[in-house]
Amino acid sequence: NTQTDDFVIDDEIILNIFKIRQDFAHKGTYGKSIIVGGSYGKIGAVVLATKSALKTGSGLTFALAPNCGYEILQTSAPEAMFIKGGEKFINQIEEVENAVYGIGPGLGTEKETVKALLEFIENHQSPLILDADALNIISKDKSYLKLIPKRSIITPHPKEFERLFGKTENSFERLDLAKTKAKELGIYIVLKDHHTQVVTPEGAVFYNVTGNSGLAKGGSGDILTGIITSLLAQRYSEEKAAIFGVWLHGKAADFAAEKHSKEAMQPTDVINELGNVFLYLN
Ligand code: APR
Ligand code: MG
Repeated sequence: NTQTDDFVIDDEIILNIFKIRQDFAHKGTYGKSIIVGGSYGKIGAVVLATKSALKTGSGLTFALAPNCGYEILQTSAPEAMFIKGGEKFINQIEEVENAVYGIGPGLGTEKETVKALLEFIENHQSPLILDADALNIISKDKSYLKLIPKRSIITPHPKEFERLFGKTENSFERLDLAKTKAKELGIYIVLKDHHTQVVTPEGAVFYNVTGNSGLAKGGSGDILTGIITSLLAQRYSEEKAAIFGVWLHGKAADFAAEKHSKEAMQPTDVINELGNVFLYLN
């Protein structure tokens, strides 16, 4: 817990992480993202995450959702492929070789979904991105935490963090608990807040300073899940994907606020600013 392990994510850190797209790239170079989520009445969350994964540049992007989202997803994100995971709720999560999974947006916590998720994470070897209802399901029993694959990235908001790890008195205590749990479980914890903190399994903390209160709207978190999944699919390391992801998300939100105002900007406007953020970096 020394001062030297705390970093503010500035442009210099980001320019060191960012990799210019290779001229001779093909879609295989930039990996497969699979967004797993959605349930009857909450398909929008998986639409937002899928669009964000596409806009962040992964080579192939899939949405694994229940069949009630089929037409919605194929229409709103035609570049993504659909994998059926159930009828109204997910009851099965298919394994696709070498794909990076971002799980949780709009997932719901139906019995059949709980079973499918637990079975999947127990058998999956490589790191996952877990958010929203995936975290709420894992919160149901303390023994589930150990099922999370090593070096996975979890993205709880304060309430989800509390459900996972228990109550803390203030944000300092919360950060301390996050460091302990990140080490203990060998995972990255992205503590979402006004200034989001990325906590590494080594106990380092990276503070994000991009983003604004225009993000305080339903759907903003789903975008972050899509962005981080896409970066991990593109072979950024877990640490770099988490750090770069929170910065991109916030920067796109800052661009969206300049154009539309913090009040009127929508998560979709944030997704649509990702291109301008990449132009800023290139
Ligand atoms: N300043 C900067 N960033 C902010 C601010 C703010 N004032 N408010 C929110 N954000 C950012 C957070 O850092 C985070 O990245 O917006 C995102 C909000 O994410 P979530 O809290 O997950 O919100 P949301 O997308 O609405 O979640 C949708 O999923 O988490 C579940 O059940 C939950 O209904 C919720 C749903
Ligand atoms: Mg959320």
